[in-house]
Amino acid sequence: MADKKAQLIIEGAAPVELPILTGTVGPDVIDVRSLTSTGRFTFDPGFMSTASCESKITYIDGDKGILLHRGYPIEQLAEKSDYLETCYLLLNGELPTAEQKAQFVSTVKNHTMVHEQLKTFFNGFRRDAHPMAVMCGVVGALSAFYHDSLDINNPQHREISAVRLVAKMPTLAAMVYKYSMGQPMMYPRNDLSYAENFLHMMFNTPCEIKPISPILAKAMDRIFILHADHEQNASTSTVRLAGSSGANPFACIAAGIAALWGPAHGGANEAVLTMLDEIGDVSNIDKFIAKAKDKNDPFKLMGFGHRVYKNRDPRATVMKQTCDEVLKELGIKDDPQLQLAMRLEEIALTDPYFIERSLYPNVDFYSGIILKAIGIPTSMFTVIFALARTVGWISHWKEMLSSPYKIGRPRQLYTGYDSRDVSKLEDRK
Ligand code: CMC
Repeated sequence: MADKKAQLIIEGAAPVELPILTGTVGPDVIDVRSLTSTGRFTFDPGFMSTASCESKITYIDGDKGILLHRGYPIEQLAEKSDYLETCYLLLNGELPTAEQKAQFVSTVKNHTMVHEQLKTFFNGFRRDAHPMAVMCGVVGALSAFYHDSLDINNPQHREISAVRLVAKMPTLAAMVYKYSMGQPMMYPRNDLSYAENFLHMMFNTPCEIKPISPILAKAMDRIFILHADHEQNASTSTVRLAGSSGANPFACIAAGIAALWGPAHGGANEAVLTMLDEIGDVSNIDKFIAKAKDKNDPFKLMGFGHRVYKNRDPRATVMKQTCDEVLKELGIKDDPQLQLAMRLEEIALTDPYFIERSLYPNVDFYSGIILKAIGIPTSMFTVIFALARTVGWISHWKEMLSSPYKIGRPRQLYTGYDSRDVSKLEDRK
């Protein structure tokens, strides 16, 4: 794997030879692990130039706009598979056979309910709490309920925890929504598909059970697939870091949910709709584009740009198609927010500022319009992202624990005071 070498010349010291590692595809990486023996280490805030781990799960070519899960292009997975097949693929490395799929779906369905006592946790939250605040709490609380699967060194325990998380996230997400609405929480229905069951728990009530539209269930399923994994992003890296200390999987996923919440990451889907509301009308677009370009203004065009993609986000292309299908199914013509989004995209993509910086719409740009059309309130958007991303997080957690790993512990460039003495209170000025 490492036959090439890089040489690091440090003034006044002997040159250091560093192995160059080659992946299956993608750029070579310089292995700097031996640097510590020279008493030095690298400085890379934001991990712009640092691979934090080796992984076989997901590959992104940001320049070409390619996203592969276990080698399969996301566009093909979105078209030819479903979310639970994608989950199986991420967790196990291969797409399931018909028999494996039936077994996996049945196992997931066995775990869709949450412990009855978990319901009482919700009463501790204000009804107007942000759903992500409640999610951080209730997912973390799962570790207090499933003691039988918390031995992270036992592969079977890891497997059960992974399935439990994939199975219970829709139930918890829907419970969060129902709690905010003051409606009774709905139990999962195992005769429905994963996406149908989620929509059932979200929108049905004990007094009215309406059939779930297959088109909307398919759109929901596709949104889940498009968010399932995205290699070492902030939340996945958070899950790996938390897991590297030996924390239990439910605690690690709660950490991932917290990292996802920010508007630069998963919170962007909510922020896009808030921004479209704020822009209000096509006539205001120029003003907001100018704000986005102004270095003295913190405003950014939400749903635009990506750390890795310097080309169109392939998930955004599928998301836009799904958006068109959903609006057609629902008979929504000339949706003002969609019109606004499309015009904004058109203007941004021809503006030199966005062209020079390779800023394209990302996965979050159109997802909010679909979710809103389905009837999901804006504050739930990031919860849906968390639900779908759980399988990616847990796949990375499992991958890390299945091979030798070390606790994640970055170093720092210290620029504070050198050692000094503590003076008595009366002597301090
Ligand atoms: N609007 C205006 N300018 C932008 C934007 C934007 N959305 N994104 C980046 N830039 C500018 C940025 O100001 C910088 O300009 P300059 O070189 O003159 O200083 C340049 O483009 C490079 O950006 P960066 O902030 O250094 O890039 P980054 O890799 O650190 O940040 C990002 C990536 C996604 C956090 C950022 O593009 C952003 O904040 N976008 C809006 C939020 C968003 O849509 N996030 C969802 C990401 S996709 C879903 C997910 O994976 O979570």
